[in-house]
Amino acid sequence: MFDTLKAQPADKILALMQAFKDDPREDKIDLGVGVYKDAHGNTPIMRAVKAAEKRLWEEETTKAYTGLAGDPLFSERMISLVLGDAVSRETVSAVATPGGTGAVRQGFDLVKMANPDAVVHVSDPTWPNHLSILKHMGLPVVPYRYFDSETGGVDFTGMIADIAQSKPGDIVLLHGCCHNPTGANLTQGQWTQVIETINSVGAVPMIDLAYQGFGDGLEADAGPTRQVAKSCPETIIAASCSKNFGIYRERTGILMTVAQDSGTRTVTQGTLAYLNRQNYSFPPDHGARLVLMVLGDEGLRADWEAELEEVRTGMLELRQMLADELRTLSGSDRFAFLGQHRGMFSRLGCSPEKVEKLRAEHGIYMVGDSRMNIAGLNRDTVPRLAKAIIDVGI
Ligand code: LMR
Repeated sequence: MFDTLKAQPADKILALMQAFKDDPREDKIDLGVGVYKDAHGNTPIMRAVKAAEKRLWEEETTKAYTGLAGDPLFSERMISLVLGDAVSRETVSAVATPGGTGAVRQGFDLVKMANPDAVVHVSDPTWPNHLSILKHMGLPVVPYRYFDSETGGVDFTGMIADIAQSKPGDIVLLHGCCHNPTGANLTQGQWTQVIETINSVGAVPMIDLAYQGFGDGLEADAGPTRQVAKSCPETIIAASCSKNFGIYRERTGILMTVAQDSGTRTVTQGTLAYLNRQNYSFPPDHGARLVLMVLGDEGLRADWEAELEEVRTGMLELRQMLADELRTLSGSDRFAFLGQHRGMFSRLGCSPEKVEKLRAEHGIYMVGDSRMNIAGLNRDTVPRLAKAIIDVGI
């Protein structure tokens, strides 16, 4: 049986991680996988998470199963974090999932159950794993224009024109903040137009919110998601705790749905729990418990928010440093978009050949589509990267 299997294409981001590890050069720079790193290249455990973990170890008395939807307190606190009071709780269903990817996968599964004819409209480009999961699940995909590599911003006219082509019951997949891989984001006014377009065609928005707190702040980054949930009859939200709590390997995420009224909530909540049962039964608890402890304790929460803010502003400083350095070296403003982008990533907008040159000649690793993880930089490596970018002729 196994001899019928075909080799699967390697995930480009994960393959890059391995290639970086295997590179013996000491001055190599890793701008690949989306993992936060401090100035020393470490991915620290956040202070509040460590404190919660210690408390948990002392106080936890059982490892018995939670519920199929995970601990309801986790859902409650995450719903508050993401949706605030934008919508009535009576309209929200939620289940804990293994990471944000688990939530995305369960969200697509839900779509398949609710509307087997749904087409999923995705930004061009989007996170490569969105496409890989959709292909694996056999869901049809149509890209909508998004990134304009000339300006480094959003091709908004193209985006609206393409979204307007979606059909009732189709899904429009949106990045709630910190677009991955480009770093280019919509303004509030543009979000309003996106919502109007989605509603006018009767499509359903699905939001991937993997970087809340990494862009303009915890509240600001949730703004578009809240606006969508408030304005559209139905919304699907896949949120990750991997980055903003720094608990990547614990696999902590949540899938939420928001309905127009409480009428369909019971069935939707039951369907989400059913999907968990079919795919992996109970969701992992450890990371979710740390999150609910941090969010529910005044002191831990304040410390977590403060540390997250340090992470966010640190990345913003690095972005601006890089944009400034490139302005000096290139004698032009053509890299100013790097300072305007938000989140962990920016797409340079150059060819894969130039990306390969950066790797081969300068030991600088970024994803082949020229996505850079800004958190992979520090004050010493920013000038080196800027010089290398100019050297290879970008
Ligand atoms: C990324 O885009 O690098 C992260 O979301 C990690 C991943 O799983 O790809």
